[in-house]
Amino acid sequence: MSASIEQILEETRHFLPSPEFSAKARVSSMEQYREMYEESINSPETFWAREASDLSWQQPWDSVLEWNVPNAEWFKGAKVNISENCLDRHLTNGRKDKVAIHWEGECGEKIALTYADLHREVCKFANVLTAQGVKAGDPVLLYLPMVPEAVISMLACARIGALHSVVFGGFSVDAIVDRLEDCGAKYVITADGGFRRGKAISLKDNVDAALERYPDVKCSFIVQRTESEVTMVEGRDVWWHELMADASAEHTPEGFDSEHPLFILYTSGSTGKPKGVLHTTGGYMIGTYTTCKYIFDMRDDDVYWCTADVGWITGHSYICYGPLLNGVTQVMYEGAPNYPDFGRFWKMVEDYKVSIFYTAPTAIRAFIKAGDDLPNAHDLSSLRLLGTVGEPINPEAWMWYHKVIGGERCPIVDTWWQTETGAIMISPLPGATPTMPGTATLPFFGVDAAILDEEGNECPPNAGGKLVVRKPWPSMLRGIYKNPERFQTAYWDDYPGIYTVGDGARKDDEGNTWIVGRLDDVLNVSGHRLGTAEIESALVAHDNIAEAAVVGKPHEIKGEAVVAFVVLKSPVNDEEYTHTLRKHVATLIGALARPDDLYIVTALPKTRSGKIMRRLLKELVSTGDITGNITTLEDPTVVEELKALVQV
Ligand code: PRX
Repeated sequence: MSASIEQILEETRHFLPSPEFSAKARVSSMEQYREMYEESINSPETFWAREASDLSWQQPWDSVLEWNVPNAEWFKGAKVNISENCLDRHLTNGRKDKVAIHWEGECGEKIALTYADLHREVCKFANVLTAQGVKAGDPVLLYLPMVPEAVISMLACARIGALHSVVFGGFSVDAIVDRLEDCGAKYVITADGGFRRGKAISLKDNVDAALERYPDVKCSFIVQRTESEVTMVEGRDVWWHELMADASAEHTPEGFDSEHPLFILYTSGSTGKPKGVLHTTGGYMIGTYTTCKYIFDMRDDDVYWCTADVGWITGHSYICYGPLLNGVTQVMYEGAPNYPDFGRFWKMVEDYKVSIFYTAPTAIRAFIKAGDDLPNAHDLSSLRLLGTVGEPINPEAWMWYHKVIGGERCPIVDTWWQTETGAIMISPLPGATPTMPGTATLPFFGVDAAILDEEGNECPPNAGGKLVVRKPWPSMLRGIYKNPERFQTAYWDDYPGIYTVGDGARKDDEGNTWIVGRLDDVLNVSGHRLGTAEIESALVAHDNIAEAAVVGKPHEIKGEAVVAFVVLKSPVNDEEYTHTLRKHVATLIGALARPDDLYIVTALPKTRSGKIMRRLLKELVSTGDITGNITTLEDPTVVEELKALVQV
């Protein structure tokens, strides 16, 4: 296995949960964790059937798991409605008038929706969708800001068996068109706009531009948020509030097969266009429910806040589904973390008395830069548990989170998982697991995670290898939408019957997993996945770009930043030209993908067979030098030009 994914073991600090925390936790010791873990691996049927019995099933399953590699069927034969489990169940278990969502707009408006309110809105919108012709199995594309209507739309789709496919509101027109074409959606839910850093950002204009190129959409539902002027297209665009005004609040949730598709969420891969990751109902429900129950140890008196956007898997599993399945009260925030300043989150933690807080390392690093005065100005004593997700957390950020935000009293759950895994896979259990800055520690119940070498042998402790999962788990992806071939090649071809994650990792002597990073050509920018191939194809779509290579370089806040090298078709004498080309990427994909640096070069480093040697470019942008083996380069003189150009 390549030495590049080996890592020196330096971190030795251990943090144990306090006895008070452990005493109240669902899993309160390592013995209890081990016992439950063993049962989940050796008798998954018994383990998962017991967990599943916490929730409502309209018809019981015939079998807990049928596994024909790579196709898993969980709770086969059962009929279930996930929206009923998130909402209706709480109307009769004492949570009817409990706040489900405290929503706060960027300008400070507040809306509190109880479980009864959320149920009513979802029932009404389910009726609206049906009245407009949406049927079970139909894909519906959502392009929304962080407003309650985003969650209402997802749950209403799920309630009638339609598949939601949420596109992050920061993605561009091209990204919307690509996803519409891939999934074939005939319905769109969007808004006039959303607020971000005090400005109204238009969303409908992007959808309108996309629908000019993809005319198959029959109905576009428009949420009114910013009250900006929009053009309504007759016969296609309808106002959410107008249809909701007359909609009935009565809706009986139909039971769907446990394996009925729930949603598609596009995520970047190492080749080609983003993959439409498909999740289904019963297994995903149990995965998100149990991870919230044990990892966030959610209680009736908790106030939980996940700062992700619903456009990412974290927003699906840990804003929309998991917390509502657990009947918890949560906070949902519309805007930017630094509006009006970097104290916004801490003010909200104080205002709502947040007890569980889940965010990304990139945000933590930005808060560190903004200084301790901002969090110190607020009462954060309501917090009892902290979480992180999206990328490996650097020990400095972990320690700051622990001290300044957690007051050295809150366990930190560093949760490793992916869009594909649907729910958290590796994480401490807060009342049991000793934590260490930088490791997601141990596998969750039912997760048989291992580190393998190229031959498929398990790596010894501290040796780097490929992270894999050897057994099926309930919330696993069920495919790439309409593309079984890509499903097979992307995840199941490396080792027979084993799921390949795409991350490099090692396990230490105690069995803790340390994620080292992606092994494929996928970048992790601010905890979000971007394929280098995707950005390169956006670059070469420009009229004047002949060739492009994209790599990541370490970035203090974002974790990784995008760096592009391009060869032009004809030279341009304009100092602003690199800016124009960077902007072109933002226009085609979204601002997240805009390269921080873009270098115009006369040639890219290639092997004799014409393969771009991104490894050299990566080394150059990270260290300012190229020391790696260049003997396979077709033209070694390129290296000198590159070295002269790139200063770190
Ligand atoms: O490389 C891992 C990294 O993010 C990838 C998954 O990205 P995505 O599907 O966008 O989902 C992000 C939110 C779940 C993984 O393959 N990653 C995610 N969480 C962690 C992480 N790397 C290290 N530690 C984590 N806690």
